[in-house]
Amino acid sequence: MERVILRNVDREDSHRIDVYLKHGGYQAFRKVLKEFSPQDVIEEIKRSGLRGRGGAGFPTGLKWEFAAADFKEPKYFVCNADEGEPCTFKDRMIIEKDPHALIEGMLIGAYATGCSVGYIYLRGEYPIGKRILLQAIEEARERGFLGENILGSDFSFDIHIHSGAGAYICGEETALIESLEGKRGEPRIKPPFPVNAGFMWKPTVVNNVETLANVPVIIERGAEWYSSIGSPDCPGPKLYSVSGKVKKPGVYELPMGTPLEEIIFEHAGGIKEDRKLKAVFPGGASSCVLTADEIHVKMDFPSLAKAGTMLGSGAVMVLDETDCIVKAALRLLKFFRHESCGKCAPCREGTDWIVRILYRIENGKGSEDDLETIVTISETMENSFCGLGMAAHNPAVSTVKKFRDEYLKHIALKRCPFKE
Ligand code: NAI
Ligand code: SF4
Repeated sequence: MERVILRNVDREDSHRIDVYLKHGGYQAFRKVLKEFSPQDVIEEIKRSGLRGRGGAGFPTGLKWEFAAADFKEPKYFVCNADEGEPCTFKDRMIIEKDPHALIEGMLIGAYATGCSVGYIYLRGEYPIGKRILLQAIEEARERGFLGENILGSDFSFDIHIHSGAGAYICGEETALIESLEGKRGEPRIKPPFPVNAGFMWKPTVVNNVETLANVPVIIERGAEWYSSIGSPDCPGPKLYSVSGKVKKPGVYELPMGTPLEEIIFEHAGGIKEDRKLKAVFPGGASSCVLTADEIHVKMDFPSLAKAGTMLGSGAVMVLDETDCIVKAALRLLKFFRHESCGKCAPCREGTDWIVRILYRIENGKGSEDDLETIVTISETMENSFCGLGMAAHNPAVSTVKKFRDEYLKHIALKRCPFKE
């Protein structure tokens, strides 16, 4: 497939504005300023079918329409670059290799929604990305793409970078906004959604890096062309971060809806040392596990939801026959226990209890009752305040359901069968 999102990344100095301009960069934004009303941009994005690539898949055009319809001022345009989901490293590639595509996407989005101030909330662990983005923003200002009365129009917009400090929860958009306001990063109740009451309680669009990198090319080549890629009900290209026991881990740009089997065995080269595939977490740490028999599934939002899991950020984590499923679930739950912000009890206590139980089972001290307890705790965690707690139990409860025999083996042997 022709590369769309990653079309620029292999060029030498792809992060510099001269290289970007030489290959058609900022033409989409110029076209928008000249030929499109804000409503035209929103219609084009709606017709393209673009859905948010951060993980939830909310229709981008609709989000922009909601923000445009709110006339409180000022309005803010925020790029969520706090890529914290374990094994997710797709946005990093855009930030480091094609930062001007991100800036151009933000410019077009801000024009469409009437935003005058932009923020990139950048993962604290991306210092190279920060340096590159700062340089790119400065270059864009020097060439007149950011600032007052851009390219002689009455549209003004500038972008500032805010670095995160390593908290996973700050990738949740309302916690991100709290953090941007200088407060402790804890989620707010939704609704109201940020499009109406976000940063400083003003209308705020929050879009993921990959989502925004799609925008210039949609304007350049049109919604019809864009929506011909991928699944009809979920179009466009998608970046998949593939890691774990594959021969060629990495970021793969493929049509949305590419079968998981094809991603693992064709693009990522199959399983290391030609071992047997055991399990896959198809959408990051909070997705439900799939067994080797379930990998014919299409990797898009609706197909994975139908399969009882989710696409999330598109982080494909592959386990082979030598991996212990209990240990894998324990690792993921330990991550969530550490990253739970502690605001609500179901998540704060639930993650801790599940870690204790998994630890017990992995170390030969578990009982069959523990499996039912994990299921009960997860039901309570469904009532958590935000998405982190609502999904954190997924790796535990889904592995208990699909790999019950392996859990029972740990309990019967009173040790991990993978440790001799
Ligand atoms: P959500 O479904 O609450 O919202 C998705 C987006 O749509 C938000 O921007 C929200 O403001 C907007 N929205 C939803 N309904 C709306 C309405 N009626 N009016 C206006 N706007 C509306 O999902 P959430 O909690 O924002 O994201 C969850 C996803 O994030 C998960 O699928 C997870 O995979 C992913 N995630 C990604 C990470 C990464 O590093 N990329 C890290 C952690 C989670
Ligand atoms: Fe914090 Fe977890 Fe509750 Fe979200 S679910 S508010 S992360 S404690």
